[in-house]
Amino acid sequence: MTQLTAKASASLDGTIICPGDKSVSHRSLIFGALAKGKTTITGLLTGDDVLSTASALRQLGVTISTPETNADGQYVAQQVVTVTGVGLGAFAEPGLPLDLGNSGTGARLLMGVVAGAGISAVFTGDASLSGRPMQRIMTPLSQMGATFTARDGDKLPLTVKGVRQPQSLDWQSTMASAQVKSAILLAGLTARGQTSVTEPVASRDHTERMLRHFGVDVATTTHSDNSYTASITGEASLTAADIIVPSDPSSAAFPVVAALITRNSTVTVTGVSINPYRFGLYQTLIDMGGDITISNERVEGGEPVADLICRSSQLKAITVPASRAASMIDEYPVLAVAAAFAEGVTHMPGIEELRVKETDRIALMEDSLQRGGVDITSTHDSMTVTGAPEQQGGMTIDAQHDHRIAMSCLVFGLASREPVTVTGCETINTSFPGFDHLMQSLGADIRADQIDADKKNHKGNT
Ligand code: S3P
Repeated sequence: MTQLTAKASASLDGTIICPGDKSVSHRSLIFGALAKGKTTITGLLTGDDVLSTASALRQLGVTISTPETNADGQYVAQQVVTVTGVGLGAFAEPGLPLDLGNSGTGARLLMGVVAGAGISAVFTGDASLSGRPMQRIMTPLSQMGATFTARDGDKLPLTVKGVRQPQSLDWQSTMASAQVKSAILLAGLTARGQTSVTEPVASRDHTERMLRHFGVDVATTTHSDNSYTASITGEASLTAADIIVPSDPSSAAFPVVAALITRNSTVTVTGVSINPYRFGLYQTLIDMGGDITISNERVEGGEPVADLICRSSQLKAITVPASRAASMIDEYPVLAVAAAFAEGVTHMPGIEELRVKETDRIALMEDSLQRGGVDITSTHDSMTVTGAPEQQGGMTIDAQHDHRIAMSCLVFGLASREPVTVTGCETINTSFPGFDHLMQSLGADIRADQIDADKKNHKGNT
């Protein structure tokens, strides 16, 4: 069990590169697998979630090169990985369950792949993933012809029996979910005719972008009421295409918020995706008076990226528009931390989806920050934080298999009076391997506690 403690740290300073985008990394492996030919991926995230997707794809018969490690067995940065695709409909039926670990994206997207591939597969995961709802995937994919059996109706372990040629589908989604949209479009690739997904507001569009990059026609429309439709024509074929993975804005969020809420800090994070469907946190922090300069905007591998220069700021509370939730859904925990140090009352409505992420993130942030002295309340679909110039901190929390809760609470500990300890920090490896070292390189006092050594000492004393 890895335990980290964060202590008050001023003057964070430096230029860093955050790991590759998790959403783009999953998709680059999956679309590379569906394509004919060899796809080279530069900058693949070697977080546990993405490695779980890679292992599952290998079980389906796909050849993926092993990410490079250094002499200490650590994955090197800027990984170059190749995927030798099998083409649509040519997957092998796995002999063993596909274990997607902690990864909702890996599980849900691969359910779409299996549903349209005419094979059966059992999906398993860790305690967190095994508690997450899959009905949102099962209902549309069942209408396309796949059959499911699952524990408690829609929980992992879950078996998907796919069909070789699914029914095409015109799906009206009640939620803005890129995982739902992607699973349906992936199954639709082998269907006859057009498959469409309409969402109440657009979720992240990496699937649409990457399908186009692999040669598939994708039609997208934003309607006058802000709803959004993405459509593909089935019986498609994907051609291998190289990918450059931008840095993950959801990971960059942690050093960025840390820079804003600590004193005398200037942190530059380079090459971060500024995809408009992922930019909500940054827009919100700028609206709150955060000193963030967006420089060197460019397009890399089909995604807009920029360098973000972030300086200590006195933030001012705002009400975050609910319509922005989809573009920052993973960033509310760390926004709650920023709000704790802002002047006034920050209200975050329209975030019910947070209740079914790796944990119930509304409940866990409320409990964790309250224990650190923060005035935070919630309803079923909102959080409200009344900020203060100083916060007490001093709490110990268990990450409960939720990487973003772990990192958010550690960032809080960099600005609170008393240290913050988080247990179960190995979960940070799902999305941000090397988080503690990267933060230390900026001057952040985040350290691993010697639990094993302490335990041994205690044993010796009794
Ligand atoms: C993701 C979509 C989001 C997000 C998750 C990654 C993706 O989930 O929370 O971390 O890569 O498609 P939903 O779109 O289902 O809310």
